[in-house]
Amino acid sequence: VKTALHIDDATILASVETALAAAIDSRNLAPRLAEAMRYAVLGGGKRVRPVLTVRCGLAAGATDIEPLLPAAIAFECIHAFSLVHDDLPALDNDDMRRGRPTAHKAFGEPLAILAGDGLQSLAIEVALASPRDPARIAREVAQACTDMITGQVLDTLGGFPESCTQPADRLARIHENKTGALIRGACRAGAIAAGAAPALLDRLSAYGAAMGHMFQVVDDILDETQTSQTLGKSAGKDKAQGKTTYPAVHGMERSREFVQQLLQEAERALAPIGPEADPLRAMASALATRTH
Ligand code: IPE
Ligand code: IPE
Ligand code: MG
Ligand code: MG
Ligand code: MG
Repeated sequence: VKTALHIDDATILASVETALAAAIDSRNLAPRLAEAMRYAVLGGGKRVRPVLTVRCGLAAGATDIEPLLPAAIAFECIHAFSLVHDDLPALDNDDMRRGRPTAHKAFGEPLAILAGDGLQSLAIEVALASPRDPARIAREVAQACTDMITGQVLDTLGGFPESCTQPADRLARIHENKTGALIRGACRAGAIAAGAAPALLDRLSAYGAAMGHMFQVVDDILDETQTSQTLGKSAGKDKAQGKTTYPAVHGMERSREFVQQLLQEAERALAPIGPEADPLRAMASALATRTH
């Protein structure tokens, strides 16, 4: 019997790449829109979210990648949309992404905005093509996307609710939404696509929440400690733009400690799951120690 342990990362990454290209090419899009969407989504990026979807699905008993791909690439499309808009002059105003000019630098602002819009709705189309529980998976995608946008508003414009006044609480609110929601949702959707029982879904959901929070704390650390060349995006911008980052609020030492705490939280969530979750354990430690 084929198990999660026998499917390697290269196979998953290649399947994700093919499915992403096919999703764009299967639609009769305006040629310029298709070109900008392909640019935003293909040929770069670590593919953390779709790999998490697939790995969570395999940990939940799926024996094949194929039925997990619609959910997986839906999250990558939302993620790519979020990056295109995050880089716009009205938001973070960045020129470089994934080692290349940002979408608005390559195509101009109008087409970059519309390509982001197109990726968002394509994600829902794709999620609705999931072989199992399509409506539930589409709802996961849409809810995570809405939460991501809430996080982007808090990050970019502030305006926190009355109940959220402490800097540490505000920071957590930003991170859990702008980055955590998509990563947690990607894990949940993988579990749902594999027909996970509620208790296992809860476990993978808790794993995803810890991973999502950790991912943005690491991103904040790398922004301060790595070069633009290593990151493939402009480093040192958070400080320059006065962003509410983990190192800005808590300092670098506590930021690194917090990454370790969140790694342990992710591992604890997986504790009752056997070796079928080993690839998820490996991903957690890889993302805690990544340098780009
Ligand atoms: C960057 O995400 C934006 C954040 C949410 C921190 P990734 O680091 O996953 O970006 P790619 O997809 O690998 O380019
Ligand atoms: C990423 O936050 C959040 C989203 C794109 C939703 P950042 O603004 O820190 O991401 P990078 O550093 O530009 O990739
Ligand atoms: Mg941003
Ligand atoms: Mg940014
Ligand atoms: Mg960043």
